[in-house]
Amino acid sequence: MTHVEEHEGTRRDFLYYATAGAGAVATGAAAWTLINQMNPSADVQALSSIMVDVSGVQTGTQLTVKWLGKPVFIRRRTPQEIEEGRAVELGELIDQSAENENKPGEPATDQNRTMDEAGEWLVMIGVCTHLGCVPIGDGAGDFGGWFCPCHGSHYDTAGRIRRGPAPRNLEIPVASFVDDATLKLG
Ligand code: FES
Repeated sequence: MTHVEEHEGTRRDFLYYATAGAGAVATGAAAWTLINQMNPSADVQALSSIMVDVSGVQTGTQLTVKWLGKPVFIRRRTPQEIEEGRAVELGELIDQSAENENKPGEPATDQNRTMDEAGEWLVMIGVCTHLGCVPIGDGAGDFGGWFCPCHGSHYDTAGRIRRGPAPRNLEIPVASFVDDATLKLG
């Protein structure tokens, strides 16, 4: 807010920002620059992207962050989870699409679900594809990944639906590593 108040032409810019941003006010100089260009696509992009510090995420644990109103699971998988995920044949899967916005149209191999070639980092929208409950993680369910208690959907270590009413694999959002410790969502 201080940033906004100090800026010349404050009122009009603030009103514009408030209309577009719905409460996410003044996140920093970079966002402010983009907004001042009055470029809708850049504006939307700035507001919908976040940086996540993943330096503290240990192997075998999951960080959950809220992004665009939804939980996002950021899991650092163990060698066993990676091995289990890679051992699954496509023909065993209910949904054979990777459901990965970073790899549209690709099949749901374990490799196509992870952020890195080693398969350590798995980033997914934490919303069950049945009716939208938040699945439980940390190896829950019969396939060692996530379990949705609402109606009993089991997801494997790559977040792929394996049993239950959910029709699709957990969705993978647009994401990229900015550096070793920083994940950008959006
Ligand atoms: S909402 Fe997850 S199984 Fe129904």
